[in-house]
Amino acid sequence: MTSPLSALSYTLSDKEFQLFRDIIFRETGISMSEKKRNLIVARLSKRLRALGLGSFSEYYHYLSESPHAGDEIINLINRVTTNKTDFFREKHHFDHLMNEIFPSIIEASRKGRERRLRIWSAGCSSGEEPYSIAMTVCEAFKDERGWDLKILATDLDTEILTKASRGVYASQQVAPVPLPYLSKYMVRCSEGYEAGPQIKGMIAFRKLNLMDQTFPMKKPFDIIFCRNVMIYFNEETKQELAKKYHHHLKDGGYMFVGHSESLMTMKHLFRFLKHTVYQKV
Ligand SMILES: C[S@@+](CC[C@H](N)C(=O)[O-])C[C@H]1O[C@@H](n2cnc3c(N)ncnc32)[C@H](O)[C@@H]1O
Repeated sequence: MTSPLSALSYTLSDKEFQLFRDIIFRETGISMSEKKRNLIVARLSKRLRALGLGSFSEYYHYLSESPHAGDEIINLINRVTTNKTDFFREKHHFDHLMNEIFPSIIEASRKGRERRLRIWSAGCSSGEEPYSIAMTVCEAFKDERGWDLKILATDLDTEILTKASRGVYASQQVAPVPLPYLSKYMVRCSEGYEAGPQIKGMIAFRKLNLMDQTFPMKKPFDIIFCRNVMIYFNEETKQELAKKYHHHLKDGGYMFVGHSESLMTMKHLFRFLKHTVYQKV
């Protein structure tokens, strides 16, 4: 027998939309425009049904007052984040790492720079970005010895992080991975391909909310990727975040942003190098 709720389609009043916009902004920094109203209804209706709730107002009360409110906020966040990503997305970034940045870091090590490289993939989604960075690092440093090479990959969506650390992808998802990299750094499995031990071992996946006032990382990074994340934030949130990235980068460290993002309003913090690539001033 179908329950009456399974047939229920929910509507979101202006007042309810505002309440949900406020929680989402407070918890994630994501600014939901009027255009996102249908997205909220589409992504949360299933959850309301699963909880046996009759309206978005009831869900709001559940989020505010139920003893499970804390866990439910995590559920809400996992549903409203947009996780679209790809292996070697914006390929020119990986070419720039391979042809310019890594050779200059290796060259500097011959003149005494410490053999330590730290990269942060902030908003790593299901892992395609940090695994693509890891493959590029392995290739660039393959003839080098004595390096300590590590990537920190963070996201606030706990479900997507579980997927990322598992590192298993369908064959069509790995299509953008260059064939020599695929055979060297990924292994075939029943579901398609799995990230191999060399690249998995280089990455630490952690939950981190970019809205936190401070981040726990003590040592600065050589390179930060924050691509297609700030696009969901308002200007003030972006500026605050850019200041935190500046703080967590080494002098002369590099910052990569998404194809439609820019740090041009923060020229005092970041020098433009080429499209969507910046260097700490
Ligand atoms: C569209 S994906 C981008 C993935 C990858 N960087 C890329 O460019 O392909 C955006 C990711 O940012 C994460 N995100 C959004 N708000 C966040 C926040 N406040 N803290 C941490 N991660 C956040 C989302 O969960 C999502 O996985």
